[in-house]
Amino acid sequence: MPKLSDLLVPAPLRKTPKPGEAGVPKTPAPQNLKDEPPEQQTEYGRLGEKALEAPTEALAWVDQRMAASGFLTGMLFRKVPKGTNWFYTLGSATLIAFIVQAITGVFLAMFYTPSTTQAYTSIAHINNDVFLGQFVHGMHKWGASVMVILIFLHMARTFFFGAYKYPRELNWVIGVVLLILTMTMAFTGYLLPFDQRSYWASIVGININGTGPIVGPYLSDFLRAGPEVGATTLSRFYAIHMLLLPGAIIALIGAHMYLVVKLGTTAPPWTKADKPRVAEPTTNLEAGVSGNGYRPGGASTIAGVQLDTSPGDGTAHA
Ligand code: HEM
Repeated sequence: MPKLSDLLVPAPLRKTPKPGEAGVPKTPAPQNLKDEPPEQQTEYGRLGEKALEAPTEALAWVDQRMAASGFLTGMLFRKVPKGTNWFYTLGSATLIAFIVQAITGVFLAMFYTPSTTQAYTSIAHINNDVFLGQFVHGMHKWGASVMVILIFLHMARTFFFGAYKYPRELNWVIGVVLLILTMTMAFTGYLLPFDQRSYWASIVGININGTGPIVGPYLSDFLRAGPEVGATTLSRFYAIHMLLLPGAIIALIGAHMYLVVKLGTTAPPWTKADKPRVAEPTTNLEAGVSGNGYRPGGASTIAGVQLDTSPGDGTAHA
């Protein structure tokens, strides 16, 4: 486990650095402080030092009661396999897209009214009158597409890198549910502006759901919430969009992340696992070569057994 910065370690638990280490002078401080007061011993300096320590002390106070630093260190300083690349950032990018949607959604909910007569005008009010309203609305609207694109790219990465295989099948299944919930998020959000496009697109979407086998008709009835798309449909879509789905997605992302940390990241498929280390004799008598018998990129023999000593890529996991 990597060493925690001294600043984050509570004062009573900190190791006293030896002379010459961590800013401690090699020569001892003057004995008579009255004659030669060092700068930090003045009242002013002491206050400044205390002020600097205050946030750390506060963190340490919380940590002594929560013991969260061990968990956080384990989470933030995990080992990752060699050869990871930009494709591995797609999951985190999806997470950021979700967080942006959640934050902008909260601000939109402050001004949006889920009623068939006021929904459209409340959106127009957000766009035309509210400070930064059009910007926040635009971020939420385009952010939805960004999240859908990123989630598909992330799924493609995990598929093509074989990350769905043992022991990560459960994380794949959680991912599939996250994908369905994200698509449902996009679908239920589309109706909310209640303009001509969202109204007719939602009717098409509800009817497509109705063509599904067995549960299809029940699903479309549930979504329509009555014989026609109307006030109840809008309220239902709004509740699903801003309460049910975000809650479920947050819980599932928590489980998804727990498994990512617990199981470690899959190494890229083109990297080779480290070969088990075998003790080699200093002199290979049988082959008649001195040294450990290693030939770069080739195979060595120990007592007639072929060993592939070509350097392999490590796949260290947390
Ligand atoms: C809200 C949606 C999602 C979020 C926020 C999310 C987030 C993440 C993050 C941050 C990681 C670790 C970094 C990485 O490998 O990219 C990860 C890994 C993983 N995700 Fe997702 N993910 C989501 C959806 C999905 C979907 C739709 C699938 C597949 C159907 C999926 C399957 C996986 C798998 C199998 C791993 C392990 C990858 C490995 O071990 O290399 N995730 N996810």
